[in-house]
Formats: sequence, structure tokens, C-alpha cells
Amino acid sequence: MAGRLDGKIALVTGIGAGIGQGIALRYAREGATVVGCDISAEWAGKTVADAAAQGLTIDSMHPVDLTKPADVQRWVDYAGETYGRIDILVNAAAIPPHMAPVSIMDYDSQWTPTMVGEVDLVFLAIKAAWPWMTKVGGGSIINFASVNAMRGSVNTGMVAHCAGKAAVMAMSRQIAIEGGPHGIRCNTIAPGMVQTAATASAGTSSGAVAERILQRLVIKRLGVPDDIAWAAVFLGSDESTWITGANLPVDGGVTAA
Ligand SMILES: NC(=O)c1ccc[n+]([C@@H]2O[C@H](COP(=O)([O-])OP(=O)(O)OC[C@H]3O[C@@H](n4cnc5c(N)ncnc54)[C@H](O)[C@@H]3O)[C@@H](O)[C@H]2O)c1
Repeated sequence: MAGRLDGKIALVTGIGAGIGQGIALRYAREGATVVGCDISAEWAGKTVADAAAQGLTIDSMHPVDLTKPADVQRWVDYAGETYGRIDILVNAAAIPPHMAPVSIMDYDSQWTPTMVGEVDLVFLAIKAAWPWMTKVGGGSIINFASVNAMRGSVNTGMVAHCAGKAAVMAMSRQIAIEGGPHGIRCNTIAPGMVQTAATASAGTSSGAVAERILQRLVIKRLGVPDDIAWAAVFLGSDESTWITGANLPVDGGVTAA
């Protein structure tokens, strides 16, 4: 059976863990040529090795710090020059956000790094990929918002995270508008709570926090990276060529309830 992404050159950020890792593996399985990156050489190398063990190929540059413009440019140009085109850019990487309420959030050590690590790195990757995508007549950009782009939390102080994810969603709508004439589509996926090493170590897999999260879900389980990866396959593929400027919640129904 043909893969849904056959022939596509897909750039995926943050392939070392969680959702980016899940997307890189699923994209490779669906026939895309995947060029990943991550700030952690160890984690990205492990994803490449895991892929190989499953008979899949993932190309990767690591370490790449996506908050550094020169690193981003080096990675994107490597992909464009090696494979001749860029069809899909998935901006999955983000730093673990600093969680604190406004009363104690520090501007320099918490607010600013969260904004840079959630928003700036998305802008930088899009900016670097733009000329490559316009050159071949278009492409699909997939960014990551969050449930917290649409609602706050009564349990956790997350003022910077909410602002950062809403900024990604707003930026993506504008990128969709500016990309239209070039055939570039841009959409966001807004995940609910997805089990990754990072979210599990924050105590979301068991105990009181997990109970609270599960209570609010319509579908009574936490997400897994592949739940998100399937949505990213759809938005990256030619199945979604009339969809741009949209936000797709993949959240077990939490925003419906
Ligand atoms: N997991 C969730 O429940 C959830 C919920 C809503 C939104 N999201 C969003 O989905 C995306 C993926 O989340 P995740 O949970 O898989 O994250 P994660 O922390 O599990 O993985 C992020 C990956 O990005 C890499 N990374 C971090 N900073 C980087 C940098 N400066 N340069 C290059 N690589 C860098 C990390 O090394 C890691 O491999 C993020 O944008 C996140 O905000 C996640």
C-alpha cells in the first residue's frame, strides 16, 4: 500500500522525544523522507537508531538549538540542499515551559526563555524554510498550540505558557494568510495531555493529578504521541490541501466539555 506521504521531504523539529519523535517515526512509515533535528544529540541519535531497528530511515542533524538563528539556518539549508526541496515543516520542538503564576514569575529567567523557547523557535524555522517552500510552489507548515492557547488552568500557574501557545496559534493564522499566494498552508494542532517522558515525570501518569485530568476528558485515557502523529500526517498530506489557518484540537474531547 502506498504511504500517505510518499515523495514528501518533511522537516520535523524535536525528534528526540515525545510528539516530535512520534511524528518522525510515523512520517517515515508513511513514506516521507524525514530530516529531523534536536538540541539533544543523544536523544535524536536514539530516535534515528530506533527507526533503523524498525526498518525505517530518519536523517537528522544534532545538536541543533532552534533558538539560535544560525543553527536553524544550517539545518534547514542542509535539508533543502541535500534533498532539493522542502514540502513539510513540523515545528514540534519546544522547551519545557516555566510554570509559575504572574505574582512570582521572573521576567528574565522564566518569562523570556519560555517565549523564546515556545514562539521564537517556530518563527525562526518558518523564516528559514520559507524561501525553499516558495521555490517549489508551496508546502505545509504544522505548528503546535495547546489546549492552553484556548483556556487557562485553575491548578497550575502558567501565564507565559498560555501566552506562548496563543501566540503560536495567532502567528500560524497570519502565516497561512501570507503563505496563500505561494501555495504554503499553515495549521496548528492543539494537543491535550499527551503522555511523554516529560509529562510523566511531571506526575501526570498516576495519582491525584492524573485523576483530575482524566475526569475532564471525554475519552477516558491520556493521549499518546501517535494520536498527534496521525493528525500531523493528515495536515502534511495532500488529503488536506484546502485546509489552512485552522487549529485542530487533538485532546480527548477536553475542550468540548
Ligand atoms: N505533551 C503534551 O501533553 C503537550 C500538550 C500540548 C502541547 N504540546 C506541545 O507539543 C509539542 C511537543 O511536545 P512534547 O510533549 O513532545 O515535548 P517534549 O519535551 O517531550 O519534547 C520536546 C523535544 O524538543 C527538543 N527541544 C527542546 N528545545 C529545543 C531547542 N531549543 N532546539 C532543538 N530542540 C529542542 C527536546 O530536546 C525534546 O526532544 C510542544 O510544542 C509542546 O508545547 C505538548
